[in-house]
Amino acid sequence: MKILFIGSGYVGACSAAVSADSGHEVLVYDIDPQKIAKFNSMDKDIIEEVLYENGLGEMIIRNRERISFSHDLAEVGRFLDQTEAVFMCLPTPEKDGSGETNLTYYLDAARGLAALLAKRNNGSQGQYILIINKSTVPIETVGITKEIMQLAGVENFGVGSNPEFLVEGKAIQGSIKPERIVVGAESSKDFAVFRDIYKRFINSPNVNYIEVNPYEAAAGKLLANFVLFNRLAVCFDVVGRACEKFENLDFEKVRSILINDKRIGEWGFYNSLYAGGSCFIKDARSLMHQLGGKNAGTDLIEDTLEGNKRQLENFLMRSISEKQFDFTGKTAGLFGLAFKRNTNDVRNSAALGATEFMLNMGAKEIRAFDPIAGPNYLNYFNEHKDADKIKLAAREEESLAGCDVILIACDWPEFRELTPKIIENFPPGGLIMDGRRMLAHDYNELAENGYDIIAVGSPLIKRKE
Ligand SMILES: NC(=O)c1ccc[n+]([C@@H]2O[C@H](COP(=O)([O-])OP(=O)(O)OC[C@H]3O[C@@H](n4cnc5c(N)ncnc54)[C@H](O)[C@@H]3O)[C@@H](O)[C@H]2O)c1
Repeated sequence: MKILFIGSGYVGACSAAVSADSGHEVLVYDIDPQKIAKFNSMDKDIIEEVLYENGLGEMIIRNRERISFSHDLAEVGRFLDQTEAVFMCLPTPEKDGSGETNLTYYLDAARGLAALLAKRNNGSQGQYILIINKSTVPIETVGITKEIMQLAGVENFGVGSNPEFLVEGKAIQGSIKPERIVVGAESSKDFAVFRDIYKRFINSPNVNYIEVNPYEAAAGKLLANFVLFNRLAVCFDVVGRACEKFENLDFEKVRSILINDKRIGEWGFYNSLYAGGSCFIKDARSLMHQLGGKNAGTDLIEDTLEGNKRQLENFLMRSISEKQFDFTGKTAGLFGLAFKRNTNDVRNSAALGATEFMLNMGAKEIRAFDPIAGPNYLNYFNEHKDADKIKLAAREEESLAGCDVILIACDWPEFRELTPKIIENFPPGGLIMDGRRMLAHDYNELAENGYDIIAVGSPLIKRKE
């Protein structure tokens, strides 16, 4: 099957690679020529500069006969003559803090696609094509897509929905062994196109292949994300807070009581200073906006967003309320710049908020370390008035030596082994702020070595004099 992907971001590139790996002939179109050139290099290191996702580079290179990348609309037009499906993988960020989804990228791409589709097969439009929303879109977007196509004179098409459930950091492993595939369509013809696309998975006993209408598919994605987001907020803001406020509660022990209830289960039961990333926050806000538009109460969504935000603010403010730490003129080591481990994606990462906070409080220098997300993090602060105060550290030791405070903002597994490097390089008397409880197994040892510790899910741990 020939399949076009529009948008070569995390979702477009990963889904396209898996489609090519499933035997389809795939073209990926993106408006960003630099990105396209890097993907077309078929060089793993260069591909990973654009998008670090374990296994993605290898998968693209292994399937190079079946996948190519383009920013040339004429090439896309030719490809469309025989294309049976188009996946729309465009960004759908929030519009101006209003909760409403900014569909500009999606609509621009849909209009561009419509113009090409109306001309396919020399204008006869003989080839049936299914246009599929893979972007996370508002529940009623399918109607908008149809209207755009009809206005441009497109015929012989269907519009479906196939929300993406990938988890950044394990997108490729997750996509070749998906738990579920959700396809939304309005005709048996469109369901048949989906079955062809996913024939590799459809008969697997491990995959739940769920056929619904496009509205249910879009709603299912937004609602699933909210349930997950809410669970994180509950764990951070209620379970974690309880363990901070009552002496003698060990977060890990309380956690084990909770997760050993099968109804609760394990997912999301950790403590962190923020649920960031590109999806949870904007999808919750979009859901709130859509439900608000139907006059439904949205307090729980609002509280979840607030609980998540409060966790980060609370954690950062504890440096002042519990330790009277003065950041003025201080050097801070910042560990973990991506929004979580195994990705170079810094969108809504806790490190961004922590950096802003420390700079606002007068920090002299931030020495930031991350195994791979450094360039994206620096890029984010390019235009910042204090950009010169932010330095990338090549090694963990550089973010420790001579610092007054260190802050761990995400969960790269190697941070669990930081203790000996801290003791060797970080001056005693310094403050350790652990936003992921990465050093929980060593808090006693660190306190005995002269460090005060503020950790999410623990009261202040004072150094032992
Ligand atoms: N990243 C995730 O983990 C994830 C998971 C599930 C769903 N989603 C959803 O998938 C969608 C895409 O997310 P993403 O993280 O891949 O976004 P992204 O920002 O990483 O990538 C989007 C790509 O679209 C390109 N683009 C923008 N306008 C274009 C146009 N008119 N024509 C062609 N290309 C264009 C951009 O250059 C970029 O490469 C969003 O709706 C998101 O909510 C993301």
